[in-house]
Amino acid sequence: MTKPSAFKLSLTATLSAALFATLLPATPAAAAAPAPVSIQVQAPALSVDASVQIAAKKIQRNPAKDDVFVNKKYPLSPKKYAPKTVAIQGSNVRLRSSAAKAYNKMAKAAAKDGVKIRAVSGYRSYNRQAELFNYYTRIYGKSYASRISAVPGTSEHQTGLAIDVGNANGACGLQACFANTPVGKWVGKNAHKYGFIMRYQKGQESVTGYSYEPWHFRYLGTSLAKSVKNSGAKSLEAYYGVSGKKSDSAPKNSKGTAQTTANLNMRTGAGTGNRVLLTIPRGKSVQLTGSKKSGWYQVRYSSRTGWVSGKYLSSISMPSKPKKESKKSTPKQNTSNAKSAKTSANLNMRTGVGTSHRVVLTIPQGKKVAIRGAKKSGWYPVKYAGKNGWVSGTYLRSFSSSTYSPKSSDPKSSSSASKKTIANLNMRSGAGTSKRVILTIPKGKKVSIRGAKKSGWYPVKYAGKNGWVSGKYLR
Ligand code: DAL
Ligand code: ZN
Repeated sequence: MTKPSAFKLSLTATLSAALFATLLPATPAAAAAPAPVSIQVQAPALSVDASVQIAAKKIQRNPAKDDVFVNKKYPLSPKKYAPKTVAIQGSNVRLRSSAAKAYNKMAKAAAKDGVKIRAVSGYRSYNRQAELFNYYTRIYGKSYASRISAVPGTSEHQTGLAIDVGNANGACGLQACFANTPVGKWVGKNAHKYGFIMRYQKGQESVTGYSYEPWHFRYLGTSLAKSVKNSGAKSLEAYYGVSGKKSDSAPKNSKGTAQTTANLNMRTGAGTGNRVLLTIPRGKSVQLTGSKKSGWYQVRYSSRTGWVSGKYLSSISMPSKPKKESKKSTPKQNTSNAKSAKTSANLNMRTGVGTSHRVVLTIPQGKKVAIRGAKKSGWYPVKYAGKNGWVSGTYLRSFSSSTYSPKSSDPKSSSSASKKTIANLNMRSGAGTSKRVILTIPKGKKVSIRGAKKSGWYPVKYAGKNGWVSGKYLR
């Protein structure tokens, strides 16, 4: 198992999500039937050009339907909606029966191809999602937490139609590199045949509101899933031509606009091979998002977002680049010297490390436990009520030793030929957290600096390997 890293999206944090998903007791499904609601995307009020055609796609808001659309802007209604779920074969991950059936079929087909899919996380209740989101907020801050985890009431997992998958051996679990593993490749290629789509694709964060999750698959039913896949749309948002960001309004300083010089098709992607979302009449002003690809511009018009050919735009004024959210990482609490901690949930104390061990007792939430020794694979040996056992560190808080908080590095400071890691630190294939993790350098190790810093990242050599690490954790 990889050492916990200081980085966001570290294995530790993401696996914690899985732990949350799998360890906490299931919340009973609410009995209340949801109020069925669905809206039709409205055609823009047309006064000028009757030739405007709208490919209006119904956006399903009824949470009981397999095609319900859920994102930050389209929360579940009722927000505590709970579907009926069933366990999927060979695991305690639960899904709505339609999705479970499709998943079982998919897993079988993958197995036939020699690929063993593991269900990591499926249905999550409102409360469980709240725990997860709060957990991420505590360790990363709200802004970053919102990029990797949904606010309760807005997660596809709450519909029982989304599943996080992994490799049976856990390789690259809930990490971007999962895409290059056998299961990652297989589901990327085949999931749509069973009614699932990869919901949060690479580079689509500005559209979906979430960073890349090649492990998160959403069941839509086979016909819609195939239609989305074949449309070439890189997200469900693009397919419907709506936004996934909570706030659509561009920052004041970054407004970009252009005028259409012809009736102009807005499409789901850059190129005429993509589906037409609507036709913008000639002479209209459109908002530019700042994304441009092969002569095509991403635009907003009439509450839809899509792509238009730059050939039919005039007075193009691109938005000033919005400032990238700083890639500051928050290291986890240093718990290595902790003598005690508090439980943040009703927590099973077990005879050993891992959920396969027998439960000794359940420690109520908010209780102080004594830590008896060193952490092992994220589990702590603890004493509570006179009994010894092991608990998952995911549900421990307020470690009694002081928390570790590095000072932010001075960008102008030293560029000596070697530096020391001040946290377990991921070495990646390039400068940035989206790059593949090569290895995790333990805290306190010396690394040699191979060249010039780039965007706060250093090219380093460690253990005979070259890669990049964030300068925030070097001294
Ligand atoms: N990680 C996805 C966005 C969720 O929390 O639903
Ligand atoms: Zn997910």
